[in-house]
Amino acid sequence: MVKSERMRLGIVGAGEVAWRHAAAAAEVDGLTLVAVADRDPLRAARLAQRHGARAVAGLDEVLAAADLVVLSIPHVYHEELALRAIGAGRLVLVEKPMATTVEACDRMLAAGCFHVGQQGRFFAQVRAAREELDRLGEPLLYTERRSTDYRRPDRPAWFADPAVAGGGIAMLVGVHSIDRACWLLGAPPRAVAGTVAVPDGWAVETSAAATLYLANGRRAHLTLVDSPEFFHETTIVCERGTLTIDPAGCSVDGRRVLAVDGDQEYTTSFRRQYEAILRGDPVATPAEGRDAVAAVHALYRSAAAGGEPVVG
Ligand SMILES: NC(=O)c1ccc[n+]([C@@H]2O[C@H](COP(=O)([O-])OP(=O)(O)OC[C@H]3O[C@@H](n4cnc5c(N)ncnc54)[C@H](O)[C@@H]3O)[C@@H](O)[C@H]2O)c1
Repeated sequence: MVKSERMRLGIVGAGEVAWRHAAAAAEVDGLTLVAVADRDPLRAARLAQRHGARAVAGLDEVLAAADLVVLSIPHVYHEELALRAIGAGRLVLVEKPMATTVEACDRMLAAGCFHVGQQGRFFAQVRAAREELDRLGEPLLYTERRSTDYRRPDRPAWFADPAVAGGGIAMLVGVHSIDRACWLLGAPPRAVAGTVAVPDGWAVETSAAATLYLANGRRAHLTLVDSPEFFHETTIVCERGTLTIDPAGCSVDGRRVLAVDGDQEYTTSFRRQYEAILRGDPVATPAEGRDAVAAVHALYRSAAAGGEPVVG
């Protein structure tokens, strides 16, 4: 692909998701990965080399080299690095969750404008679902069931440390499920009720279930399961049909309205997120990123208090 070079991209944190970002950015006309930093210089060097970029020492060097900075680092570091990047006047894409606490989200919100990496909205089947919903009448029941192999043996240790991860599966993938429910049902969360499961030897939850009470009166029931088997299905029963979203597409009453290649679609969702940023189209806002983090904390408080709804 011969690319025009309108925007220079820098990545801080060259771990798992950074490879996805770099692969997606390589497909975007007008975007060029120029700099990669990581606390571990070898990791930065490997990713930079793969994409013809420069491995640099840290955020300051990335800020000097790039117009758009992606922060794909462990959750607790999002706030500090985002504040520095926003302060330097760069476009910033902070990976989800926006931060580990609502207070940190509020400080980031006060600092200025940036994007939150809730790229799940850019799956073609989720976009198709939003269009189908317009035709199906009032959503009567929303349920999502998804897994992640939270305790997989090669999971980096910080995911088990509440001081760094801010929580467990709800912080890691629950924010995606919350964002999807709010985006499809059209309102932010008002309250959350739920349960979390913290297995022996763990300090964070590895499975959770939550009911979101949205500001427009709609509800969403989410189940997050720690499992080596991957599943992810959203079902929305509406007045005039039942919509399902899964990794391979979107269906109405069992009829496929859109089929996608699940693996490819994941990287494509990152590409579409970059394209939206370049065009100035909507990407998850800091307020929406904060809503998801606040909902996770409301879930934790509800679970600790016996499962009663807690205002987020
Ligand atoms: N949007 C998505 O679908 C998606 C998917 C996976 C991960 N993520 C998010 O991306 C972020 C990173 O997750 P990951 O799975 O890539 O983690 P990871 O552990 O694989 O990678 C994190 C990298 O950051 C580096 N690092 C740690 N602290 C640093 C610091 N202060 N400065 C510079 N580098 C530092 C580590 O050395 C590591 O290479 C998390 O916020 C995670 O929730 C998002």
